[in-house]
Amino acid sequence: MSGTRRKSWAEPFKIKMVEHLKMTTREERDRAITEAGYNTFLLKSVDVYIDLLTDSGTAAMSDVQWAGMMMGDEAYAGSRNYYHLEESVKEVYGYKYLVPTHQGRAAEHILSQIMIKAGDIIPGNMYFTTTRLHQELAGGTFVDVIIDEAHDTQSEHPFKGNVDLHKLQQVIEQYGAAKIPYVSIATCVNMAGGQPISIQNLREVRELCDKYKIKIIHDSTRVAENAYFIKVREQGFADKTIAEIVREICTYTDGCTMSAKKDAMVNIGGFLAINDWDIFEKARNMVVIYEGLHTYGGMAGRDMEAVAIGVKESVQFDHIRARVGQVEYLGNKLSDWGIPIIKPIGGHAVFLDAKAFLPHLPQLSFPAQTLAAELYLEAGIRSMERGIVSAGRNKQTGDHYYPRLELVRLTLPRRVYTQAHMDVTAEAVLEVFDRRDQIKGLKMVYEPEYLRFFQARFEPLS
Ligand code: F0G
Repeated sequence: MSGTRRKSWAEPFKIKMVEHLKMTTREERDRAITEAGYNTFLLKSVDVYIDLLTDSGTAAMSDVQWAGMMMGDEAYAGSRNYYHLEESVKEVYGYKYLVPTHQGRAAEHILSQIMIKAGDIIPGNMYFTTTRLHQELAGGTFVDVIIDEAHDTQSEHPFKGNVDLHKLQQVIEQYGAAKIPYVSIATCVNMAGGQPISIQNLREVRELCDKYKIKIIHDSTRVAENAYFIKVREQGFADKTIAEIVREICTYTDGCTMSAKKDAMVNIGGFLAINDWDIFEKARNMVVIYEGLHTYGGMAGRDMEAVAIGVKESVQFDHIRARVGQVEYLGNKLSDWGIPIIKPIGGHAVFLDAKAFLPHLPQLSFPAQTLAAELYLEAGIRSMERGIVSAGRNKQTGDHYYPRLELVRLTLPRRVYTQAHMDVTAEAVLEVFDRRDQIKGLKMVYEPEYLRFFQARFEPLS
């Protein structure tokens, strides 16, 4: 890509308010990461300079969203913001029925409990931590049917989120369609590095599922970013709007679980949306037990209003181009310096390949966890492990899952950091890269039962 083309992502907004950040010393960071058990999830946010832990709930809302917050109708039942949200979801995604939830995993919980029975199989284009756990808690087993290229850090396949139709067909033949309540399809697959699925692949998955009367549930958390990649990479879509592509993606699926904390740029919120009346009825009933009445589902009226507006902002082309453009800016910089990252660069984050970065560390000394801690020590930059710690244990054998991908995610909050922050981040990664030979691994000294990456504690290997 030429230098002039890389500049084209400049933001379609200006900054109205700022939040001050604390600059820390190396000693302060040393103390902080030790106290946090070398787990970036356990750091206090005040001790972090540039927070690239997640793009979830960390966006800067627009002035229109903030104005919407003031229009919160906090009635217990039938808040007008619920109806606005319903209208936005129908308009942008096209699904028929909406059940609001406080965030994405709550929608996953409700949907899994309704659709999955003990012994069921859920094929999908790579697992996501909370999604798979809810499938397992409902008695199901997740089976990965993503293309092999998704597990290959060297592959530059433009749609690494695609389903391998042969693998899917095999799973259907092996277990029988009756054991498969739905196929789980994520757009811009998080754990693969923010990699998109193509429309062509989606159409083929739909065709195969139709043949066996299997439903498709869409994890739409980052669907707008996926739509952007379709527009710029897939033949025949250059002239379509992001909104049109998002709608088309959704037409190939029967419903979605959504964490509005990502694409929709709110600090809290989510929903389940579905075309099937029976599932909707069950979900609407179940949400009352776990979240709240079906017209707020764990969100305040003001939060629903912010989601209703954010959903529409998420499909504006200038926004999404700048969003993905900033991620690409950081990724290209690292890649130009020879730092191993997942390619193509993803939609929401740059993923450092910790196995290639620290080749001397065996996977059981947690290379990605180690690298995330080192980056914090270097410059106060907080990132996230996405490797063996995140993958957890096989519930049958009790052994660790050993994912091929051992990654550190530098995740960019939407509309929050500047190009200079990206430069500082890249330079910090380079500093760590230059001294990589001296880096030793970690040992796990505390391991919680569920989603261990959030709360596990580590100590340096001597
Ligand atoms: N699906 C995907 C693809 C996600 O990335 C997330 C959250 C969820 C579901 C769950 O949604 O957090 O609202 O309950 N991902 C965050 C992350 C935590 O940092 O990637 P939630």
